[in-house]
Amino acid sequence: MADDPEATEKRVEDLLMEEEEEEVLSEAGEEGGEETTSLINWIANNFVLIVALVIVLVVLKVKLKDWRRRWFAAFMNCMSQEVDVKRELMKKELFSSMSSVKSHDPELRKSGAIKVLEIGVGTGTNFAYYPEGTRLTVIDPNPHFKHYYNENRTKFPNIHSEDIIQTTGEEMDMIPDGSIDVVVVTLVFCSVENTEKILKNILRVLAPGGKFYLYEHIKEFDTKNHSIRGLLQTILTQSGIWPFLLDGCCLDRDMFQALENAGFSNVKVERFHADIDHFVFQLIAPSLKGEAEK
Ligand SMILES: C[S@@+](CC[C@H](N)C(=O)[O-])C[C@H]1O[C@@H](n2cnc3c(N)ncnc32)[C@H](O)[C@@H]1O
Repeated sequence: MADDPEATEKRVEDLLMEEEEEEVLSEAGEEGGEETTSLINWIANNFVLIVALVIVLVVLKVKLKDWRRRWFAAFMNCMSQEVDVKRELMKKELFSSMSSVKSHDPELRKSGAIKVLEIGVGTGTNFAYYPEGTRLTVIDPNPHFKHYYNENRTKFPNIHSEDIIQTTGEEMDMIPDGSIDVVVVTLVFCSVENTEKILKNILRVLAPGGKFYLYEHIKEFDTKNHSIRGLLQTILTQSGIWPFLLDGCCLDRDMFQALENAGFSNVKVERFHADIDHFVFQLIAPSLKGEAEK
């Protein structure tokens, strides 16, 4: 029986196509094999260089963090040398009720002193607002603040200040439960990793009736009148520029809600625009200040 000519033609076409595909695949395989071999050769020839490059990158990553922290401590120290009368007055008013706090510790209570914990103490810009005889425990994760803090504390012999414990507010397990009369946090929540965890820790370490004072710069809340500032805060933070330059500081945070939800009583906080003269620092004018109780 004779083959159908159309079917035969189709079979021939299929066979030709299969052959072509096989050829292309084998060529690609050869090329791929060549590429792999030359890559392995290149790695082998430059092995020492590659290892050196990886070591340099790892060292740079670790060092860069340390340099940034060193620079930030020096920068904050420079800033704290400038007398800002308006900020001083604001802090004086904020902390004024601290003098009426009674210690939970009977011995301290006898002498009228209190036990204060400052989280993220930095160079120690709040010594001047603590009542006479305050027993001050401080924590900060940045080791480069130690030098400035130690220099500063010598100017306040009326405060019994301890050495900085190098840790974060998230990891302050060494501070015993219910051992503190007052916790102070100023300009710290902008750069922390976990606000809720720190608020929980503050509640843990405070004695019943103990007080928590805070002052923070926050994201612009009056977007009707200060939309440009809000936009700049977002761009500078989300691009990573501001956090890179200032050790993780973010301009677009607001911990108001977290504080309301944290479980404190008598929460009295307000948002306000700090009166700042310097042009660049207009970005940190929107602020939150207040106090709360355990
Ligand atoms: C802008 S400085 C403010 C220093 C000081 N409180 C003041 O008001 O001048 C921020 C400080 O918070 C510290 N800090 C950053 N992350 C922290 C964290 N997770 N827990 C505690 N302190 C932190 C920084 O090392 C730095 O000392």
